[in-house]
Amino acid sequence: QPGDKILTNAFTFHAVPSVIEHARAVPVLVESNREWGMDAEDLDRKAAASGAKVLLMSYMRGHVPDMDAVMKVVRKHDLVFIEDCAHAYETRWNGQLLGTFGEIGCFSTQSSKGMSAGEGGLFITNNDEIAAKAVLYAGSYERLWLKHFDLDHEMMDSLQNQIPGYSMRMQEVTAAMLTPQIARLPVIKDVHVKNWHLLHTLISDHPNIEIPMPLPQVDSFCDTMQFHLVGMSRQDADRFIDVMKQEGVPMQIFGAKRNARDFRQWEYIEAHKDELKDTIANIEFACDLSLQPHLTEENIRVIGQVVHEVLDYINRT
Ligand SMILES: Cc1ncc(COP(=O)(O)O)c(C=O)c1O
Repeated sequence: QPGDKILTNAFTFHAVPSVIEHARAVPVLVESNREWGMDAEDLDRKAAASGAKVLLMSYMRGHVPDMDAVMKVVRKHDLVFIEDCAHAYETRWNGQLLGTFGEIGCFSTQSSKGMSAGEGGLFITNNDEIAAKAVLYAGSYERLWLKHFDLDHEMMDSLQNQIPGYSMRMQEVTAAMLTPQIARLPVIKDVHVKNWHLLHTLISDHPNIEIPMPLPQVDSFCDTMQFHLVGMSRQDADRFIDVMKQEGVPMQIFGAKRNARDFRQWEYIEAHKDELKDTIANIEFACDLSLQPHLTEENIRVIGQVVHEVLDYINRT
């Protein structure tokens, strides 16, 4: 309902607080840890203090918090849990796919995601009523929902005219583009995992680089790499990004240069802007590198070499 409080990540892309704002609800930002996952202890504190009944949690850049701890908080506060899996395709915690822990799992299919149709997205749920409502909200008038399978006709007829239609139906051409990609996900993931681990081997021992590792329960999609720059000034960190770009390896720092993943840029919401010290510390020097699936082992070796050479250049000059 308008005015409801929604717990969400302080570290995520601005699409997430935007969607809360779009629903006329109020985001309550929860701290992120060194590995960029949501901090379950802060979630517990903020759930108690705010009285929020919904958690919209992003696995930002595929980083997964301690899901046992998160689920404990979800149960303790009886939260409706919505998972933003935009960056967590084919990602598991203790063997269980993300997107199946909460009431709803959302997957963006925008162009930079694990499955892409240019734009668009989808969600999964086991809850018949949520599925029914989503079909109607998307825009399904005059029993057009008969084109969907497995919907309870009695429920659909009773909800039909209760729910506005927002014209957000997926086009058939979009669905046609996405369907074959589902089976390809594990193949693409194998490429990402191999490339990520190779790059990790190549750069993780550099004294200016800290790569926090995921918890052992996590099986990641690995389509991007993040690392903290350590022992560097703000100015040198910014120079590093500029020179990397000149060398053909574009990167960004989450907490610098008006990045849309820095909550201090979300001026349209008012939410604990100066209390989120952990998140600020964990995004200020956090570099973000996209690893597209066409990259070969040779490409990854070149990227590793460029990182070393540019860091050496920054340290020398
Ligand atoms: C973490 C995260 N969640 C959600 C979204 C929103 O996806 P869409 O653009 O499909 O609405 C994005 C988009 O890039 C994202 O990065």
